[in-house]
Amino acid sequence: MASLDQLTSQEAIDLENKYGAHNYHPLPVVLSKGEGVYVWDVEGKKYYDFLSAYSAVNQGHCHPRIVGAMTKQAETLTLTSRAFHNDMLGKYEKFACEFFGFDKLLPMNTGAEAVETALKICRKWAYEVKGIDENEAEIVVCENNFHGRTTTIISFSNDPVARKNFGPYTKGFIKIAYDNLEALEAELKSNPNIAGFLAEPIQGEAGVFVPQEGYLEKAKALCEKYNVLFIADEVQTGIARTGKLLAVDHENVKPDVLVLGKALSGGAYPVSAVLADNNVMDVIRPGNHGSTFGGNPVAAAVAIAALEVVKEENLAENAEKLGKLFRSELNKYIETTDLVSLVRGKGLLNAIVINDDEESETAWNICLALRDNGLLAKPTHGNIIRFAPPLVMTEEQLLDCVSIIVKTLKQFEK
Ligand SMILES: Cc1ncc(COP(=O)(O)O)c(C=O)c1O
Repeated sequence: MASLDQLTSQEAIDLENKYGAHNYHPLPVVLSKGEGVYVWDVEGKKYYDFLSAYSAVNQGHCHPRIVGAMTKQAETLTLTSRAFHNDMLGKYEKFACEFFGFDKLLPMNTGAEAVETALKICRKWAYEVKGIDENEAEIVVCENNFHGRTTTIISFSNDPVARKNFGPYTKGFIKIAYDNLEALEAELKSNPNIAGFLAEPIQGEAGVFVPQEGYLEKAKALCEKYNVLFIADEVQTGIARTGKLLAVDHENVKPDVLVLGKALSGGAYPVSAVLADNNVMDVIRPGNHGSTFGGNPVAAAVAIAALEVVKEENLAENAEKLGKLFRSELNKYIETTDLVSLVRGKGLLNAIVINDDEESETAWNICLALRDNGLLAKPTHGNIIRFAPPLVMTEEQLLDCVSIIVKTLKQFEK
C-alpha cells in the first residue's frame, strides 16, 4: 500500500471498510478537495456536488469568508467551556436572534442534539407553563420523519433500519400522518397532555415530500388554538435552501421553537441551535442542559460569517430562481420518458422519483453513472434521488448539471 498521505480511492475505501464502523453505505468516490459547487476526488477528477453534505454546504465548499473567520478565531481562542464566558458567544447570539427574529438562542453542535434540546424545552414548558402533570406530556410527530439518530429520536422514527434492536424506546410521542391537518386536530382536541407538535416543513430524508400549500400555516394555527408549541425542524430546509431564509417563511409562519443545524456553519464546523422567545426559552435554567462544545468561540465566529454570506450573496433568491429553472428543465425531459415519474421540491431542495419499485437498484446505478459523468448525488430511499447543490451555483452551471443529469438518465431508458 502507498504511504498514508498518498492514498488511491480504492485504498481509502479499503481503510474505511476495515477500520471504520459500517454505519453508512457511501457511493464509491473519495473526495479530497472542495471549492464552491465543485469537489475533487483523490485522482483529481472534478465533480458537481449535488448533495451539499445533506444541505450543510449551502454557502459552497470552503467559502473563503467562512474559512477566514474560522481560522482567525482558531488562532485566537477555540474553547473555554461554558464554565466561563467568552467574548464571541453573546455577539453571535444577538446576531442570530436578530437574523431569525427570536428572543433567545441555545447553542448546540449537531442537528440531533438541537432536536433533543427542543424536545426537552418543550416538555419543561409543558410542566412549568402549560401545567401538564409531571411525566404526562406528549409530543406529536409525523410519520416518515427524520430528526436524527439519538435513542429518543429513533424511538419515534418509523424506519425499521434506524430502530430495530435499539429499544427500549423513549415514551411520550404520538405519530400522525404528515400533511394531514385532520389527524393533527383530532389528536390536539382529544388529548390535553399534548405539549408540542414537531415537524419538518418539507420531509427531506423521506424523499423531499412537500406538504400541501397552507399546511404549515394551518398547523401553527391549530397549535395556537390548543396551546401547543409548534416546533419546526429546519435543520435541512433552513438557511435559504428552499428559496426563503426558512421554509416556514413561505407561509409566513413563526414557529414557537426553531431548530437549525447544518448550513448554520456553511458545513465548516458542527454548529446547531434552538431559537425561541422568552416565554418558552426562559424555562431553561443553569444546570438544566448544556454541551462542552455548544457555544464555543469558533462555532460563534463561523456561524456569524455563514449567515452573513447567506444574506450578502442573496442565496435564498438564487435558490428560488434556480429551483424553478431546475424543475422546469427536468419536467421537459420527464414528459418524454417513462423512466422518471416526477420531480418535486422547493428552491434547491428537489428529488426525482424513478419509475421502479423501492427495492430496485436503478436509482443507485443512476447515481453511479452520474458520478462517472461528473455529478454526485445519492438516493434518499430506494427509488428517490435527492438533488441539493450548493446555493452559490450560477445559472450556467445549473444548466450544465441538468444536461449531465438528462444525458445520464437517457442511458437508463429501455
Ligand atoms: C430534518 C433533520 N433534522 C435533524 C437532522 C440531524 O442532524 P445531524 O445529522 O447533524 O445530527 C437531520 C439530518 O439529516 C435532518 O435532516
